[in-house]
Amino acid sequence: MILTTGSAGFIGSNFVLDWFDQGDEALINLDKLTYAGNLENLASLKDNPKHIFVHGDIGDKALVSSLLARHRPRAVVNFAAESHVDRSIHGPEDFIQTNVVGTFHLLEAVRAYWSSLPEPDRADFRFLHVSTDEVYGSLSKDEPAFTETHRYEPNSPYSASKAASDHLVRAYHHTYGLPVLTTNCSNNYGPYHFPEKLIPLMIVNALAGKSLPVYGDGQQIRDWLYVKDHCSAIRRVLEKGRPGEVYNIGGWNEKANLDIVHTVCRLLDELKPRSDGKPYGDQITFVADRPGHDRRYAIDARKIERELGWKPAETFESGIRKTVEWYLENQSWVTNVLSGSYRQWVEKNYAERG
Ligand code: NAD
Ligand code: DAU
Repeated sequence: MILTTGSAGFIGSNFVLDWFDQGDEALINLDKLTYAGNLENLASLKDNPKHIFVHGDIGDKALVSSLLARHRPRAVVNFAAESHVDRSIHGPEDFIQTNVVGTFHLLEAVRAYWSSLPEPDRADFRFLHVSTDEVYGSLSKDEPAFTETHRYEPNSPYSASKAASDHLVRAYHHTYGLPVLTTNCSNNYGPYHFPEKLIPLMIVNALAGKSLPVYGDGQQIRDWLYVKDHCSAIRRVLEKGRPGEVYNIGGWNEKANLDIVHTVCRLLDELKPRSDGKPYGDQITFVADRPGHDRRYAIDARKIERELGWKPAETFESGIRKTVEWYLENQSWVTNVLSGSYRQWVEKNYAERG
């Protein structure tokens, strides 16, 4: 079996659902259930005895050690993190606690467990750390895309905390020989994406008749990848990746934020036209920029394609259509997510942007 962390969140829950679609190896899912963790994402697995959910913190070394000793997983995949850049600007502490200190305690528990394994289990064990392209910093318009050897230059408390965790993971391989794998992925989108992030926020706000807040001039560029493709890449790296290596994962799909918002609006115009017949694009408003906003991310994903034979299956056109359709078909998921604490966050983040 394997142990995954943070897999009641957006990417982790997609990973777990895909895991059981593809096979029947057991999976222990350790999640703290912060505002971003949602067991409703995993409701279809509630009668599956091979999915073992444990409510807990990656920073709780005693808990992690006891789970490892009891279940003896062959791999750990670490999704758990505080993941939203704007929240890290308003309150960085949780990011340091989970992404840095939590990852450290998790690594310590895993190292002790791995050291105790007999061969060949010890050689076969893997610790896969799920990270982000944001650790590489911001690119100018014409700079080449990030490769795995690009310098680290994180610009937000979020990306700095992820960079710190990447360095710890790297050091545990270099110093102790722990068989680690690190993946640095671009922006994901798809089902179960929490509506604090650009694409789901735009869908949810558009349908609610609210404004669509574009930060700054909306010309910041991100490289978008359908979440199921990220999950298939992680499975491939887990299966075939070389310990100690880093793999960049991306969709070869750079888009400016404003273009993304227009695409979402056009799809909604087609699939769920406004009752007054006007275009959703009329709801777009430009608001104050994110402090320290990275201008451009782009992933060079040639290494994972060359060495592990992985490529994204989805085009942006097919993936974004599926995503908008998913939100239209899952309005009750959206309603349940839009709780009191979500509303407080929206007020805090957008009130001061004018
Ligand atoms: P998310 O915020 O949707 O989910 C994070 C999950 O981690 C939640 O279920 C939360 O409850 C859990 N969690 C938080 N703190 C925890 C702790 N201390 N112990 C145990 N569980 C904890 O995040 P996501 O978008 O699914 O991202 C997952 C991982 O992928 C993160 O490490 C993130 O940095 C990375 N990543 C995300 C993207 C993206 O576009 N979303 C892109 C590249 C990399
Ligand atoms: O690049 C990978 C990263 O992608 C992950 O590591 C992060 O966990 C994930 O949250 C995401 O970070 P971003 O900051 O790029 O995603 P977000 O959806 O918050 O914003 C995408 C872009 O859209 C960014 O340039 C800011 C802009 N934006 C965002 C929001 C929420 C707006 O213009 N308006 C908004 O209301």
